[in-house]
Amino acid sequence: MTAAVTAAATVTSGSPRVPYGPGASGVPGPYRRIPDCHNGPVTRASLNKQPHEVASMFDHVAERYDLTNDVLSLGQDRRWRKEVARAVDARPAQKVLDLAAGTGTSSLPFARSGAYVVPCDFSLGMLRVGKQRESWLPFTAGDATRLPFRDDTFDAVTISFGLRNVQDTDAALREMLRVTRPGGRVVICEFSHPTWTPFRTVYTEYLMRALPPVARAVSSNPDAYVYLAESIRDWPDQPALAGRLRAAGWEKVAWRNLTGGVVALHRGFKAAQPPAEAAC
Ligand SMILES: C[S@@+](CC[C@H](N)C(=O)[O-])C[C@H]1O[C@@H](n2cnc3c(N)ncnc32)[C@H](O)[C@@H]1O
Repeated sequence: MTAAVTAAATVTSGSPRVPYGPGASGVPGPYRRIPDCHNGPVTRASLNKQPHEVASMFDHVAERYDLTNDVLSLGQDRRWRKEVARAVDARPAQKVLDLAAGTGTSSLPFARSGAYVVPCDFSLGMLRVGKQRESWLPFTAGDATRLPFRDDTFDAVTISFGLRNVQDTDAALREMLRVTRPGGRVVICEFSHPTWTPFRTVYTEYLMRALPPVARAVSSNPDAYVYLAESIRDWPDQPALAGRLRAAGWEKVAWRNLTGGVVALHRGFKAAQPPAEAAC
């Protein structure tokens, strides 16, 4: 593994090391609860996605995050993750960055294929739960808009259900490009917009009406799932996100819909290194 990867602060199972202090990059300090204006913890981020609010909200869903996902997606999340693994196509010994990896569930398929996967996230609550379950994974604390990795480090960078939560989408897309090696690839898995109008109507009803009560029954923080519904509705559609990828410098951008567009997989490539000029 390169020094660039190992140099990043990793989270250990006993006493997590925190790479930066509170406020330095929007990453909350260890075990701190972020007060809101009522002096309570932030359990639901607003749509302007303040990093400290987003991190705090995920800290509060961490314990039951994976169970809630399974229930709310009616088990579809497992199929979506298989499709992500196929799209990334990680080979043994390749270096894969799984950004906004949360508890590391999205990282496991890459590890199984023999790649060296680095799960990176800025919610220490999510990272801690992940470290307890999969202590061998190199969980790394880091902000998607200021990644703690050197240029051209990874063969592939991927982010599942994370980009929508990052306050500055374009900065994250540029950072992902920076840490990808020339010729390397990106795969983004994110909720999107169903393409068939009648299905889109039913799905939007599910999101706004049925999902919050179901979340109340299974989640440790049901408020967060109101944010989930609102942030999905607010997210750019497939062509718009493809345009953002191109604007950030990614090439050969394309996307594929899963479950009728409930989820979309976007991919892109970093330009290969231009051939060295012949010396005269
Ligand atoms: C819905 S979870 C997805 C977790 C995992 N990728 C999965 O598929 O289950 C979104 C994650 O994005 C993380 N996140 C949001 N904004 C981030 C940022 N700016 N930098 C790093 N992680 C971020 C949150 O902390 C959270 O763990």
